[in-house]
Amino acid sequence: MQTPNVARRQAPGPSTAPGGAKGACPRGLPPIQVSSKTAATSMTSSGQRFGSATLLATHFRNAYRRLVRKLLHRPRRLRRSPALRNLMRETQLSVHDFVLPLFISEKVQQRRPIASMPGVFQLPIKEVADEARAAQDLGLQAVLLFGIPEQKDEQASGAYAEHGIVQKALRAIKSKCPDLVTITDVCLCEYMSHGHCGVTRIDGDHFHVLNDETVELLVRTALSHAAAGADMVAPSDMMDGRIGAIREALDDRGFDQTAIMSYAAKFASAFYGPFREAAESPPQFGDRRSYQMDFANANEALREVALDIDEGADIVMVKPALPYMDILWRVRERFGKPTAVYHVSGEYAMVKSAVEKGLLNERDAALEIMTALKRAGADIIVTYWARELARWLED
Ligand code: PBG
Repeated sequence: MQTPNVARRQAPGPSTAPGGAKGACPRGLPPIQVSSKTAATSMTSSGQRFGSATLLATHFRNAYRRLVRKLLHRPRRLRRSPALRNLMRETQLSVHDFVLPLFISEKVQQRRPIASMPGVFQLPIKEVADEARAAQDLGLQAVLLFGIPEQKDEQASGAYAEHGIVQKALRAIKSKCPDLVTITDVCLCEYMSHGHCGVTRIDGDHFHVLNDETVELLVRTALSHAAAGADMVAPSDMMDGRIGAIREALDDRGFDQTAIMSYAAKFASAFYGPFREAAESPPQFGDRRSYQMDFANANEALREVALDIDEGADIVMVKPALPYMDILWRVRERFGKPTAVYHVSGEYAMVKSAVEKGLLNERDAALEIMTALKRAGADIIVTYWARELARWLED
């Protein structure tokens, strides 16, 4: 058992790095590239320590050389220089891949930082058009709007009010940046006093989120967004049948060019925590598991996506992102539809706090995550880093 140890001692080289040398090094043999100097020096020392082991080590080195000569494939040839690596790069990020979420609040006069999501703010209505213009100046093409109303009630009436917060924001943005793609989150949770995404009924200890009653309100919301200038509505509530109902209502009112980006596979996730602070929408009782999906289910996610496509979704979304890359990949492969992914608040906050602790480089981590999401099939990525990414991709 001493021999392999001796062999390893003799030739510590770069290819003994953790993880092992790819392909070339059978276990227990020394690495391929042994400079004669290193080999000679360590052979002396191992010779001193192990006597006849020197001979055996020579034998192993020769065995290695024979093996190396047979090596036809050397993937590292194409990783030698930045230019070669650029040539080989399969996935290129572009500023056009990203959608920037914006939170607009009726309750603030000044932009208010969201503590759990450094770099993200609630904006007063008077700032939203300038914010949108600044995003466009960075090269971004699309924003996703969330509204925080002054008043909440049990019918979410702020969601579909003609002069509701999102409706006002849409008009302001469109008057200043007509070409910016405006997408609206269509959901009731920010507007409901109880924070659920739909109309609720309480029976004793149980509460129900009523599907069809909720869909009616979602339809009203989507129509009012379209009327205020939304290019795209994005229902994020996970009620059954809402895509079909919204499509039909939009078409009936002449909004046949308003697209639907459906949050098609949206999981009941722990990673929405910081968003609920930003949107002031945590449920006051219970949780969202009777409408958002069980994170253990992949086939069900594919069925949900199939239904939404059938009902007329133009873009399907998977949410959250990193823990659901398998779903993203399968959705893109199976349906070939424009596919979006939402890199959510908790995923963003995780990296941010690691950056604050000095554990990660923010730019490198964000670019790696975004590239991975695109590689896994995302055509569109909703991310709180959209502005920074636009700058980093310029560098
Ligand atoms: C619902 C909605 C949520 C998010 C986007 N739309 C929260 C939820 O379902 O509880 C989460 C986004 C994020 O965490 O970044 N209106």
